[in-house]
Amino acid sequence: MKTIVTDSPEEAASFILSGETAAFPTETVYGLGADAFNAAAVRKIFEAKGRPTDNPLIAHIADVGEVDRVADFSSRIAQRLAERFFPGPLTLVLPKHTDVPLVVTADLDTIAVRAPENKEAQAFLRVCACPVAAPSANRSGRPSPTTWQAVLEDLDGRISCVLRGEPSVVGLESTVVDCTTDIPRVLRTGGVTLEALREVVPDMQGPQHDPGDTPRSPGMRHRHYAPVARVVLVDKAPSIPPRETAGYIGIEDPGETAQSDSGGRWRLVEQVATPEAYAHRLFDFMRRCDAAGVETIYCQTVEPTGIGAAIMDRLQRAEKGSAGSR
Ligand code: TXA
Ligand code: MG
Repeated sequence: MKTIVTDSPEEAASFILSGETAAFPTETVYGLGADAFNAAAVRKIFEAKGRPTDNPLIAHIADVGEVDRVADFSSRIAQRLAERFFPGPLTLVLPKHTDVPLVVTADLDTIAVRAPENKEAQAFLRVCACPVAAPSANRSGRPSPTTWQAVLEDLDGRISCVLRGEPSVVGLESTVVDCTTDIPRVLRTGGVTLEALREVVPDMQGPQHDPGDTPRSPGMRHRHYAPVARVVLVDKAPSIPPRETAGYIGIEDPGETAQSDSGGRWRLVEQVATPEAYAHRLFDFMRRCDAAGVETIYCQTVEPTGIGAAIMDRLQRAEKGSAGSR
């Protein structure tokens, strides 16, 4: 299949309307969409990504007014969260309407819903005029794509279209909150911080860390966010560049600039000024390291508060899933 790259939300939406797949930019990461009410189209997403069919998708809508097309939106808490954070990097898990095909939610009776803030995403979703089921637009297990080029790197020839937009501003996926229980819980950390959620819902539960518990978000069971390179977490920038082809990302200055050789110097360095910049650059840096043949990526840890919680979650998953421990 030939993958069309377009700047036109209308052209990208035409693929969704004819039962095909189209990738589109959002402020978190790029998504790979299909009409959420077309089961055959949604199956193409799983095929293109090589995604396990037990991992449910997020239904994307243009506007908060469309939540009730796919879900029961009677929860006051869910309404308050949506009022505050939609459109934006928040996903709400709600009771699913029975007319949404079960392939979207991997047989669950709940559905994840999100209204992206990105202008191109909104224009695209408006023309689609249907809820668009979409996971991140990467091959399953790879870091999520934050640029249209990264989408092509993973999915060229496997999807019908990519809507070309700006690099994703946030750079990490949305925060997923389960609103189907009395006390809502964060299932996946992301672009909206736990602190911000608690300003609206003070008793919001944080993500569960007990490995003995069954993860409530099916996606958290799977290997995720892993570059080909080995990922090593360090609390300080290693002072001597290691004798291997290595990359470094972190807030602290590693004391060496990037070199094209690997003679005991960094191959690639991404020094970031803030945790927000770290989030914005992380997945792209992992992909650049893979493209440059880097063997080991040293990632400096950050305080697990604010956006730092989501950064640490992705770093720990990448460390577990990377070549070193696969
Ligand atoms: O920022 C994002 O969320 C991006 C953009 C494209 O919107 N999408 C994204 O989708 O990251 P994906 O499929 O890569 O991650 C969705 C997460 C997975 O962990 C999945 O298991 C969880 O949301 N999820 C989806 N539906 C769920 C449900 N009904 N109950 C619990 N978790 C659910
Ligand atoms: Mg994903």
